[in-house]
Amino acid sequence: MASVNLKELAKEFGSNRIVQGINLDIAHNEFIALLGPSGCGKSTTLRMIAGLESVSSGEVLVDGLVVNDLAPKDRDIAMVFQDYALYPHMSVYDNMSFGLSIQRVPKSEIHERVLAAAQALNIANLLDRKPKELSGGQRQRVAMGRAIVRRPKVFLFDEPLSNLDTKLRAQMRTEIKRLHQQVATTVIYVTHDQVEAMTLADRIVLLRGGLIEQVGTPDQIYNHPASMFVAGFIGSPSMNFVPGVLTQDASAVHLDCGPPVTLSLSTEQTLRYRAHGGRRVIVGIRPENILPASGRGEGGADLCPILDMIEPLGSDTLVFFQLGEAQVVARLPPSTRAARGTSMALQVDAQQLHLFDPGTEKAL
Ligand SMILES: Nc1ncnc2c1ncn2[C@@H]1O[C@H](COP(=O)(O)OP(=O)(O)O)[C@@H](O)[C@H]1O
Ligand SMILES: [Mg+2]
Repeated sequence: MASVNLKELAKEFGSNRIVQGINLDIAHNEFIALLGPSGCGKSTTLRMIAGLESVSSGEVLVDGLVVNDLAPKDRDIAMVFQDYALYPHMSVYDNMSFGLSIQRVPKSEIHERVLAAAQALNIANLLDRKPKELSGGQRQRVAMGRAIVRRPKVFLFDEPLSNLDTKLRAQMRTEIKRLHQQVATTVIYVTHDQVEAMTLADRIVLLRGGLIEQVGTPDQIYNHPASMFVAGFIGSPSMNFVPGVLTQDASAVHLDCGPPVTLSLSTEQTLRYRAHGGRRVIVGIRPENILPASGRGEGGADLCPILDMIEPLGSDTLVFFQLGEAQVVARLPPSTRAARGTSMALQVDAQQLHLFDPGTEKAL
């Protein structure tokens, strides 16, 4: 186990500044997800931590020591990639033990470590097989086992589940989480999949264009997004964004759409947004914060839009409609009776609104 600190870490390829000065303190045994769209610099950051890529400026510290000039093998860090290249001619056992043999670890200890890792990963019955006799998920487990037996200070994962099908991904995700609970270590896990980041990480680091957009627990990132970028990236379907105006006294917001829609804010929200009274805003509404208004009667509804499209998902039903210029989606209970082309009385949970500055796109 080890702490990792990144100080003003930057990487340039020619004149392109790909990682633009990252500061991050990762605690012992913390599970950190580096999340962001393709090309935002996740792998480059991870490779600099591993020592596979040189650092243009700034520092990488492991357990308080600068490792910038240490070779990858001297950093006590193990990395698991998306394409986990196992040695095809070697058995699972040999694939897992190979690195330790090279380090001249005694045979009895190698045996102990391989068995312990194989048991944790549920592959103890596969140790004699060759990689070609394994499924994709089993191969991925062997690749993880190969990293675990080294007992590194830090584990780095770069999209390790990307090559697996949806069902297997979900299964392996649960197993990685269980494994981290069993084998406590510091983990830095790169993914573009927000579900993986939300479910696995103690803290999520959201990267955008080589810069940190927000760092926080999954709860903070989901419930208190710092910007429209974060708010839109996390959550599926994405948060709805509807332009509007905050009333002078900040007690309500008017949404920009045909028939007037006014959402009342709580006293707490009014106090929070008071300084912005009268300003134009972007109102962020998560799909699950729009509910059927039935039970309260049509009078209690905030909106009564005509539905453009219905997507029954089994566990939920998504309904799509237009609010002024904005396309909006609501996640409703599956029992909701909705039909395309008809209107539906809906209620917005205004306590859960997010307000953003239309210019900076930052949360107010
Ligand atoms: N060796 C390299 N030479 C030049 N550009 C690179 C190199 N490696 C990565 N890049 C560029 O850096 C950017 C970030 O890449 P990467 O860190 O792989 O992103 P991510 O893992 O977030 O998808 C991309 O635009 C990529 O094309
Ligand atoms: Mg990558």
